Amino acid sequence: MEKDKVPHVVILPLPLSGHVKPMLTLAELLCDAGFLITFVNSDYNHDRLERVMDIPAFYNRSPGFRFVSISDGLPLDEPRLGPIIFQLFFNTRTVSKPLFRELLISLRQSTKRSPPTCIIADGLMCFAIDVAEELGVPIITFPTHGSHGMWTIMHTSNLIEEGEVPFQEESDMDKPITSIPGMESLLRRRDLPGNCRLEVENPLMEFIISEASAMKRASTLILNTFEELEAPIIVQLGSFFDKVYTIGPLHALLKTRIKDSSQSVSSCGSLRKEDSSCMEWLNSQPLKSVIYVSFGSVIELSRDQLIEFWHGLVNSRKPFLWVVTQDLVEGNEELGQISEELEQWTKEKGYMVSWAPQEEVLAHPSVGGFLTHSGWNSTLESIFEGVPMICWPQVADQQVNGRCVSKLWRVGFDMKDTCDRFIIEKMVRDLMEDKREEIIRSTNEIARMARGSVKENGSSHCNLERLIEDLRLMSLTN
Ligand code: UDX
Repeated sequence: MEKDKVPHVVILPLPLSGHVKPMLTLAELLCDAGFLITFVNSDYNHDRLERVMDIPAFYNRSPGFRFVSISDGLPLDEPRLGPIIFQLFFNTRTVSKPLFRELLISLRQSTKRSPPTCIIADGLMCFAIDVAEELGVPIITFPTHGSHGMWTIMHTSNLIEEGEVPFQEESDMDKPITSIPGMESLLRRRDLPGNCRLEVENPLMEFIISEASAMKRASTLILNTFEELEAPIIVQLGSFFDKVYTIGPLHALLKTRIKDSSQSVSSCGSLRKEDSSCMEWLNSQPLKSVIYVSFGSVIELSRDQLIEFWHGLVNSRKPFLWVVTQDLVEGNEELGQISEELEQWTKEKGYMVSWAPQEEVLAHPSVGGFLTHSGWNSTLESIFEGVPMICWPQVADQQVNGRCVSKLWRVGFDMKDTCDRFIIEKMVRDLMEDKREEIIRSTNEIARMARGSVKENGSSHCNLERLIEDLRLMSLTN
């Protein structure tokens, strides 16, 4: 009888779409393995999800899956981007923690579904570890960053102890960082996560340091990466956790394991309505000719930065597909007069959308490059499709990702800390033509490894099998 006990996994993402999407993908993979899933959204994100997907139809296809939602403490009409995100982080402890505790207690008492047998929580939602310990439910941490980003964030307090942080932005930003084991010859000051540019006393620093430390109380770690990409750092992470499961790129693993992934809920995970008209436009463009431009879901540009990018793209004379979200420009500032040349060239050679089906775009044969903010999801998606990148990182792990892309994996160029039309134009030409040879071989090679990792017998495929098995065992001993 006990052998038939169905694992019930409660999944708690940080309530930002870049974190929700990989968590949803994992949730779907576990549901496909026959598990019961309770996915904890914020009210804000759940409302957005309902606008882009038919949830009752999804429940019919996946009866073991249920969404629940709790408040993130911010007003429902306030976009979650820019500095307000810091407030969202702080609210996790004061607002989300008691709500999550209540939720878990009610799930345990419910007679409709068996009680939770494990929690999988984002690495920045460590209050869940306190709740799990108090209520005796096993917990696994899943920071949705890559291993290098994660490892760097975990060393924030060491960087302070060693005097490498803080530093002034006017100082020598190319000074090497030497106190992160395994990354001694990789990072410079400018490659450290965005928060390292803050004063040590800044509450965000305190938040990052304490989350990174609390995360280690979970004995098991899940990462959206693949062994072949980040092996040395994954080994280092193994010294802090009893078990580490690298199961990425998750979006690709889902496609390998679930036949009709077009129906999947994680394809709606970025919580915005996609404009697929760009696919038709891409069909009309020559092979590998288009540079795709997107800065993800949380960063904002000033009007001047947007104009510099626009000039740089137009002056490169390459066709471009650009995601310009409604809230991309700080405070929704008016753009004012746009020069005729920009308008004209964009009409002839460019295409703008408010949100693209990015995974499909990157897989399209006309796309030859990606100008990105180096969010981890975008980085992995581009790596998987063998599309080389220009990195323009701004916050969090993005700076580290950009450095790995350019220096370690050699799958792109790093443009961090500049935003100038001439540099942008040159970088685009380098990526698409002049210096493409320098990176295209490694880009193809790493894409080949990424594809191998999600195939049957590939590293991530096997690691997911192990995780599923371990979650099953956990449910028996619980
Ligand atoms: C955030 C942080 O920026 C990032 O540093 C962290 O690693 C994860 O959380 P975000 O800014 O949204 O995420 O960037 P990213 O991680 O790249 O995720 C964006 C996701 O949205 C990708 O999966 C991408 O496919 C999707 N997307 C983006 C679209 O589907 N359409 C678009 O037009 C743009």
